[in-house]
Amino acid sequence: MADAVYYVTTPIYYVNDAPHIGHFSTTVAADVVARFQRLRGRQVLFATGTDEHAPKVAQAAAAHGKPPQEFVDEIVQAYLRTWQETHISYDDFVRTTEPRHREVVTRVFETLRDRGDIYKGVYEGWYCVPDETFWQESELIEGRCPNPECRRPVQRVREENWFFRLSAYQERLLQYYEAHPETLGPDFRRNEVLSFIRGGLRDASITRSAYGWGIPVPGEPDKVIYVWFDALLNYITVAGYLQDEEKLRDVWPADLQLMAKDIFVRFHATLWPAILMGLELPLPRRIFAHGFWTVDGEKISKSKGNAIDPRGLARDVAERSGSRYDVVIDALRFFIFREVPFGSDGDFSTAGFVNRFNSDLANDLGNLVNRSISMLHRYFEGVVPAAAPDPALAAAAAPVLQDLPAAIDDLRLGAALDLIWGFIGALNKYVDEQAPWRLAREGRQEDLARVMVSVLDGVRLVALAVSPFMPVAAGEIWRQLGMPGSLAAQRWDEAMRPGGLPAGIAVAPAEPIFKRIEQRSPAAPEKPAAPTAPAQGEKPVVTFDEFKRLDLRVARIEAAERVPKADKLLKLTVDTGGDTRTVVAGIAAWYEPEALVGRKIVLICNLAPAKIRGIESQGMLLAADVEGRAVLLQPDQDVPVGSTVR
Ligand code: MSP
Repeated sequence: MADAVYYVTTPIYYVNDAPHIGHFSTTVAADVVARFQRLRGRQVLFATGTDEHAPKVAQAAAAHGKPPQEFVDEIVQAYLRTWQETHISYDDFVRTTEPRHREVVTRVFETLRDRGDIYKGVYEGWYCVPDETFWQESELIEGRCPNPECRRPVQRVREENWFFRLSAYQERLLQYYEAHPETLGPDFRRNEVLSFIRGGLRDASITRSAYGWGIPVPGEPDKVIYVWFDALLNYITVAGYLQDEEKLRDVWPADLQLMAKDIFVRFHATLWPAILMGLELPLPRRIFAHGFWTVDGEKISKSKGNAIDPRGLARDVAERSGSRYDVVIDALRFFIFREVPFGSDGDFSTAGFVNRFNSDLANDLGNLVNRSISMLHRYFEGVVPAAAPDPALAAAAAPVLQDLPAAIDDLRLGAALDLIWGFIGALNKYVDEQAPWRLAREGRQEDLARVMVSVLDGVRLVALAVSPFMPVAAGEIWRQLGMPGSLAAQRWDEAMRPGGLPAGIAVAPAEPIFKRIEQRSPAAPEKPAAPTAPAQGEKPVVTFDEFKRLDLRVARIEAAERVPKADKLLKLTVDTGGDTRTVVAGIAAWYEPEALVGRKIVLICNLAPAKIRGIESQGMLLAADVEGRAVLLQPDQDVPVGSTVR
C-alpha cells in the first residue's frame, strides 16, 4: 500500500554546539506526534539527525583545534545522549556525513544538472556564516544579516558557482500552495511564505568554492555543495530515495515536517519544495513552523551563556524536588507545550517551570493518582473491586476521547494538554464531591466501589492520554495502577474507553511521582503553598504566648476574581472589620469566585505580606486540607466581621 507509514521529521541540527531548549522543543513536539500516531496504531518513521557540513561547524572545529570530522563525531554524541535521556523515540538518526546521504546529494546534483535545473554562474553578494545564508546587498539591514533571529555581520563573497533555478518554480509554488493551503502551518505563517514568493525568487547559489568541508561538487572537487542544499535532502535520504524504492513509496511524502520559524519561509517552504518539484517528487503534506523561545526575556545565545540544557535543568530540579530525573525530564517535555500555544513565541523561565511542576503535576495530576491509589489500599486492600464505572466518568472523559486526536493532528499541543487537564480537574472534583471517605464512614460499600472504580479508571485514561507527552511518568502511573501489559503496547481505539480497568487487579503501593519543588526564596513565595496537613508531631510545640502573636479574625469576602494566567489563584477583597484588604488564595480549583462573595472566613491578619503574581497578598485564610483539596473554615454561627479568633 502506498504511503502506509506516518513520516515525521525535525530539522537536522548543526553540530557546532550541544542542543538546548530550542532544539529540544522541536524534537519533543515531533516525538509527541510520533508517539500519538503509534498509539493510534499507525506505523511511524520518525527521523531526526545532524547537519554536519556547515562552514560554522568547520569554524567551531578549528576553534577547538580539531579536524571537522573528529569534532562532529564528538558533538553528535551530545545529541544522541540528549535525545536518549529525554525519551525521544526516533526511528532513524541521519548524519549528513554518512555515505548513504552523500550518495543521495551527489546523485541529486547530477540529476538536476543534467535536466538543466542547475547551471553555472558567478555569485557575487554577501554570506552570513551563523545563518549559512546568501544575501543580496539590498536585503541587508544596516549592513547585517536581515534575519531577525540573527542580525550578525556578513561576509562579502564573489565566486564562480553552481545555481539552482529557483526562479523557475515561483509560479508553480504559488499555484501549489493555492491548491493545497493546508501544506503550510500554522495558518498565520502562510502569508509570509506567499508574499516572500510573490516578491520574486532568485536562483540560489548551491555550491561554495575554497571551502574544504562539505560534499564535493561532482567533477569539481575544489568546490563543495552548499550546506542547505545538502541538508534538505536528508529528508529523502531517510525515506530511502535512490536506495529503496519500496520504502520510498511507503514513506514519502512526509506527513509532517517540523521546525521553528527561522528556517521556514526561505528554506523549508520555498527552496525545499522547489527541489522536490525538480526531482518530480510529491511535496510534504504539512510543513509546520513553531515559534522561538527566549530565556528570561533574552534571545538564546552562546555568548550570553543562557542556553538552557534540558538535561542540566532536569538534574537540578530532580535534586531540589526529590523526584526522579526521568520524571522531571517528562515534566519539561510537558511544560514546553503547557506554557505557550505551540506555534507562538515563548519565554522560558525556570521559575515558570517550577510553578507548573508544582501546580499541574505535583498538585493536580500527582494528587489525583496518589490519593486514588492510597484510598484503594485503605478501603479495598489495594484490589480493584468489581463495579461498573459511574456514567459521570464517560461524560468527564468525553472531551479527551473526542477532541484529543484532532488537537494533536493540528499541532494544537497546548490545547491537547488543556483537554487532559480539564479531565484531571473533573476527576479531582468528582472525588471531592463523592467523598469516598464519607461513603466509607457510612458503610456504603457499593457506592464506594463504584466511585473508586470510576476514579481509578479515569486515572488509567489520563495515563494513556498523557503518555505521548510524558511517556515515563505515564508508564509509572500505569505500573502503580497494576495494569497488565505495557502502556506502550496499548492502542487508542481499544484502550481509550471508560470501563477498561480490570476488576481484581492489585495496585502497587502509592508512591508520589511528582514531588513538590520548594521555591528557592522562601521569603517571597511565587504562590501560596497548597494547604497540606503535616504528619502529627512534625511541627514544633508553640507556647500560648507564641500563639497569641497571631492576629486571627473573622472576615467577610466582599469580592472575588480569578488571577489571570494562574489557574489556582483567586484574588479576594476582604473586610476584616478594621480595614478592607486584598488576599490571594490558592483555592480557585475548588471555589467559584461568585460563590464566595458574602462568605465569612477566618483570616490571619498579621501575616507578613507577600507578592503573588505581582499582587500583594495581605493575609491568609484558613482552610482544612482534605486529601489535597482546600475546604474553607467558617464560623459555626453568624458572627460579626472583625471578631477575633482564639
Ligand atoms: N541545520 C539547520 C537545519 C537544516 S534542516 C534541513 C539548522 N540547524 S539549527 O541547529 O540551527 O536548528 C534550528 C532549529 O532548532 C530551529 O528551526 C528550531 O527547530 C530549533 N531551535 C533553535 N533555537 C530555537 C529557539 N530559540 N526556539 C525554538 N526553537 C529553536 O537551522
